[in-house]
Amino acid sequence: MEIIKVNASKEYDVVIGGGILSSIGERCVSLFGKARALIVTDSNVAPLWLEKTKASLESAGIATLEFIFTAGEDSKSKETLFELLEFAAENRITRSDFAVALGGGVTGDMTGLASSLFLRSIPFIQVPTTLLAAVDSSVGGKTAVNLTAGKNLAGAFYQPSLVLCDTDTLSTLPDCEFANGMAEVIKYGVIFDKELFDKVQNGDVKSDIEKIIARCVELKRDVVAKDEFDCGDRQLLNFGHTMAHSVEKCSDFGIAHGGAVAIGMVIAAKASYALGWSDEDCTEAIINTNKNNNLPVECEFSPRMLADAALSDKKRSGGSINFVVPKKIGECILKKIPVEDLYKIAEYR
Ligand code: NAD
Ligand code: GLY
Repeated sequence: MEIIKVNASKEYDVVIGGGILSSIGERCVSLFGKARALIVTDSNVAPLWLEKTKASLESAGIATLEFIFTAGEDSKSKETLFELLEFAAENRITRSDFAVALGGGVTGDMTGLASSLFLRSIPFIQVPTTLLAAVDSSVGGKTAVNLTAGKNLAGAFYQPSLVLCDTDTLSTLPDCEFANGMAEVIKYGVIFDKELFDKVQNGDVKSDIEKIIARCVELKRDVVAKDEFDCGDRQLLNFGHTMAHSVEKCSDFGIAHGGAVAIGMVIAAKASYALGWSDEDCTEAIINTNKNNNLPVECEFSPRMLADAALSDKKRSGGSINFVVPKKIGECILKKIPVEDLYKIAEYR
């Protein structure tokens, strides 16, 4: 078992290990006393992991209620968010109670935002059940839902009180979802850690997944501690994401976030080298690593479609954006570029 302490506006532990879901009850009692738990989960995760979660909470003396929504990115919406808020109100959830986000990034992002809004904030914990949520979305306090104009446009920084990552939950994850999570792992390798990148480049990762998750969480912890509110270094975590958000949007969310990040990293690496911003051409290493981890490396959308979609992305500030450039594997920098350069970058799709 690994325990990583995050130091942000709230201090909390990220606990990672096999079988630890059965300890959720006692951990929550020590954090919140015998409060009520509002468990939020989706229609895929509920039949797999809800009973175990409830059983542990209830045997520790915590009463539970559950809100189950239809699985998928479409549910990361203002409609589901407000259904959840109404559900909490109808059930008289108080500030002494807490929410449990049991699921992937969609569940975690929406539950975190609802927790920040309900009664002007109730505590919540993250129980990531996808690799993507384990290595990225459950840690660091970014919460959001999507708006019609784009992803994550309505959100808040709101830290959880605990992240409990039971690696056994990954056993039920479809292969394509495991691959989506690997895109974020590869991303950490390119930005910060060549050793991590080398470790995952042949795709043989499952036997060492606890250590791999822990390494990603340490890297995220360090950057969140420096820049919780995303004004500087945290933006490095957006490597591959400028074009990824466009790919998701152009595919009408048919291409999942992880797959889109995989494609976005290839475009960013190719463009950065061609435009003279990188020291090394990282493209081949990223393409091979993506392929070995069952991730896509290209998309069918035209450069114009991708650039137009990127222009509506929230990272645009005035006439410029911070684009993440890989100098070499293990080192990225932020480069302020005029938004028009998005058209040049998209040419390398
Ligand atoms: P997701 O939550 O939709 O989960 C992917 C799929 O896996 C869903 O169908 C879900 O029902 C299913 N699933 C989850 N756990 C399972 C399990 N153990 N067994 C079987 N099926 C399971 O998506 P995701 O890939 O986890 O997260 C993507 C979302 O996270 C996007 O909305 C993205 O914007 C967001 N995100 C947020 C941050 C952040 O910092 N907050 C970072 C990265 C991504
Ligand atoms: N996933 C990007 C961030 O947390 O900043």
